[in-house]
Amino acid sequence: MTESNPYIASWQSPSNIALVKYWGKKGPQLPANPSISFTLDNAITSTQIEAIHSENQNQVSIEFYFEDAKNPAFESKILAYLDIVRSEFYWLANHQLIIHSKNTFPHSSGIASSASAFSALALCLCDLHAQITGETFPNFYEKASHWARIGSGSACRSVYGGFNLWGHSNNILNSSDLHAINIDENVHDNFKTLTDTILIVEKGKKSVSSTQGHALLKEHPFAQLRYQLANENTNQLLSILKSGEIKDFIGLVEAEALMLHALMMTSPTPFILIKPNTLAVLEKIWEFRNQTDLNLLFTLDAGANVHLISTAEHNEQVQNFVKNELVGYCQNGLYFCNAIGQGPKNIKNA
Ligand code: PMV
Repeated sequence: MTESNPYIASWQSPSNIALVKYWGKKGPQLPANPSISFTLDNAITSTQIEAIHSENQNQVSIEFYFEDAKNPAFESKILAYLDIVRSEFYWLANHQLIIHSKNTFPHSSGIASSASAFSALALCLCDLHAQITGETFPNFYEKASHWARIGSGSACRSVYGGFNLWGHSNNILNSSDLHAINIDENVHDNFKTLTDTILIVEKGKKSVSSTQGHALLKEHPFAQLRYQLANENTNQLLSILKSGEIKDFIGLVEAEALMLHALMMTSPTPFILIKPNTLAVLEKIWEFRNQTDLNLLFTLDAGANVHLISTAEHNEQVQNFVKNELVGYCQNGLYFCNAIGQGPKNIKNA
């Protein structure tokens, strides 16, 4: 062990939006099908961890502050996570952690923060690992992706900028269920300027969590068909991303979003996360696209909010459309604009 007590790691990590959705698990936090996302530039978690050497600790010990206040609910979630990852980060047995975390977006806005949060946490742990043990991981980001996945599956796609694939796909060498890989070199320039305007239809906690949603796939009558279609959509999206065919992109991404919610509605214990205003926004988007023929489309997360995606050349028209026709459907008029993000940043010495 090297001597520098306390050790500090500090990382910013973004959220991401899935185009082909991860929905359903196999084994220990492995995806039932591959998924593809792009990283956002404006929905970010910043996490700093101070690791203080302390002997005679039998269990992982932390103090967790979210937005400068102690947060027992998040603290116990993180403790459970650290208990799993201590098999790799063995120094957790004799270091106490003081963790400060904050988001650039309001945490009750309905924007999923687990992807950015677990990605930032895993990056800090990998960074501290090198500082404390002197052992560096041969592929730092791949390792961080692996451990981010254990916290929240979608988090493994947040450790890189641009477009990312998680899950084994026959067509892509190096693809893996264990961690995400960056696929930017196979993405046409047409897709490099996408923007994502997140329309906050409903703030606050969802009635059914992602964890519960994934679990419901286990006894879902359409599960096997879904996994087959998701594999086909992954292959198709990979070739669309390469060719630059934006119209095909629109069809596939919207179908994926609707299939995700159709799965929720048809599960043995059905549930509905979209709201009347979600549907109203989708209809407005279709109407506007029919009238203008602009390259704009929607996708949905596991929630009521709508991600309005478009290419940068239409930015002005799309932002006017949002202000004139969509903002009325957003709770408190709330929406966030994102471009494709560059990925995490080490901010320790920034
Ligand atoms: O990472 P989780 O367990 O929160 O699941 C994310 C699920 C979706 O957001 C609906 C899809 C995805 O691929 O991000």
